[in-house]
Amino acid sequence: MKPIIIANWKMNPASLKEAKSLFSAVSKKIKKTSSEIVFCPPSAYLFLFQKKQGFKLGAQNCHWEERGAFTGEVSALQLSSLGCSYIILGHSERRKQGETSETVKNKVNSVLESGLMPVLCIGESREQRDRGEEQKVLEQQILESLEGISQNKLKTKGLCIAYEPVWAIGTGMPCDPEEAQKMMLFIKKVVSGIYPLDKIKILYGGSVNSKNAEEYIKESGYDGLLVGGSSLDPEEFSKISKLF
Ligand code: 13P
Repeated sequence: MKPIIIANWKMNPASLKEAKSLFSAVSKKIKKTSSEIVFCPPSAYLFLFQKKQGFKLGAQNCHWEERGAFTGEVSALQLSSLGCSYIILGHSERRKQGETSETVKNKVNSVLESGLMPVLCIGESREQRDRGEEQKVLEQQILESLEGISQNKLKTKGLCIAYEPVWAIGTGMPCDPEEAQKMMLFIKKVVSGIYPLDKIKILYGGSVNSKNAEEYIKESGYDGLLVGGSSLDPEEFSKISKLF
């Protein structure tokens, strides 16, 4: 199976000029890979990626309604019309700003209805892990974010779940591959109570770089990676994409 490598550019880079040069450097370098590469730039730069071959396009968030009086929002349907096929949802950086599992659930539903692939992010904080609550937190995030979403909805696209421990994001302190594997198996156990596992892909994110990327796929058994900082470095991201 092709690993899915998702570049989450977050709110970077700062200008269109920089985005153009980053895009051009990255797209030149990642030509030869058998993994599924997905770019999730800020929505403002999505147009740069249209009609380019060799990778998929995604967004970092969406609203759950298709259209209407929701100033400042963008819908899954609108993102789909720009060529997006993946949408990251419930990232901890959004949960930190007040996004709840209830809103994430509505968004997952809307993304599936629009025929796109949701990438549902889950992960515990440092404090929650120190209190030994990591499994409880993940289970709660999964069950609440998918509540009422039927198996039938997953029939065509399926669902990606990204395990991103908050303490590993942007810290240079990735989760140990053995621990990451334990968490992945736990996620599978929880999800298997709701959906057939062949509809679910599990990704790892948190300080992934070209030196550790392979371990999560080949040793821990993840289906893909969600890459933040290293996706802004063309050299580093192309190395990651060529590992598989
Ligand atoms: P870093 O790779 O910078 O740790 O970010 C991970 C992340 O948040 C991807 O969504």
